[in-house]
Formats: sequence, C-alpha cells, structure tokens
Amino acid sequence: MENEVIVNQMPRIGDIAPDFEAVTTKGKMKFSDYAPGKWKVMFSHPADFTPVCTTEMSGFATRKGEFDALNTELIGLSIDSIHAHLAWVNNVRENTGVYFDFPIIADIDMKVSKIYGMLQPNESETAAVRAVFFIDPSNKIRLIMYYPLNVGRNMDEIIRVLNGLQVSDKNAVALPLNWVPGEKVIVPPPKNLDEMQERVDMDSEDKVDFYLVKKDL
Ligand code: BEZ
Repeated sequence: MENEVIVNQMPRIGDIAPDFEAVTTKGKMKFSDYAPGKWKVMFSHPADFTPVCTTEMSGFATRKGEFDALNTELIGLSIDSIHAHLAWVNNVRENTGVYFDFPIIADIDMKVSKIYGMLQPNESETAAVRAVFFIDPSNKIRLIMYYPLNVGRNMDEIIRVLNGLQVSDKNAVALPLNWVPGEKVIVPPPKNLDEMQERVDMDSEDKVDFYLVKKDL
C-alpha cells in the first residue's frame, strides 16, 4: 500500500500536544515536563546543512529575544542525527556568528515527526515538512502551520500570530485581517438577543454593524 511505512498522526488545533521523549542539542527532553508555564513554538525543518533551513533556523535564532519576551521557548526538529545537528550548529556559528541557542530534536527514528504529522510523504518520504506548532502553557495546540520544502516561512508572521494568540487570550477579543499590535481589535459578537439589541442601539464609529464592532486595547 502506498505510504504504508509512514503512519502519520495529524494533531489538530485544540488538541493537547502529544507527549514524547527525545534527544536534543540541549540534552534529553520529555515534552510534558519541559519549560512548565511557558508557550512553546515547535518547528520542523527538512534537513541540516540545507540552504532554506539554514536561513529559517538563523531567523529563529536571531529573533529569539522576541520569543523570550513572549514567554516562549523554541524547539526545533529534523530527521537528522545529533551529530549532524551539532556539526550544523557549529558550522553556521563559524560562518555567520549566528548560534542556534535552543533545543533541536534529533528525530532520527521519526517518532516525533510521525505523531505531529510532520511527515507528508507526497511532499517528501524522507524529510519532515516545515511545520510550526504553537502550544500554550497548558500544552494545548493553538495554531498550526505547514509549509512545503521549497518555501521558507515568514518570521514576522510567526511572531505576529504568537503575539496575537496571547493578546486574544488576555483581552478576550478576536483579531481582524492583518492585525498588528497597536491596531483595533474585534469585540466578540453578541451571544443573545439582549446583547444584540445593545449593539444595534450602540452609536460608535467603531461599529460597522451589530456583529462587527472594534475597539482599542
Ligand atoms: C532547504 O532547506 O533548502 C531544502 C531542504 C530540503 C529540500 C529542499 C530544500
């Protein structure tokens, strides 16, 4: 049967992030015990010593301070050995001065890739696609991105949505198209007729209609 070797589980938004134990560039990790109380951005890349992956990893590394400020730990992953990871980290540091100062999982047996749906065999049978999992401090998966092998991710968008999830949680609001910090947010729509009538009667330049009202934070 086609794809028989790769039994891929596809986690969904709202699921608890599947637990695992793995070897990383920062030592052994049991995911459920790792960095309690923090957000996690866990991302896969197809292979060490490849050009797009090097730009992406360097992007995560150079903007790590912004993830720190958002109470977020980075976790990288690829289906490479720990030796390849260490050699690549060292090589990039020597070539560019950029240091990948976060754990990178050596998923040589593909155990983690399989339970996170990172193996998409019609894209590649041997490499993980470019996945990003945004996981909140209760270990719930809140947002998932999947990119193919040939298109690098957008670091501004990764940080924007991470911040957006946190702003939405903290303020019980939703965020409109292309929202960036400083812009108005969306007040949740009414849930019953009384709330609807309040909105109908509301006089505000931030009201488009009763179901679409914005406000400043
Ligand atoms: C890259 O990162 O450049 C890459 C990795 C695997 C396949 C294609 C491109």
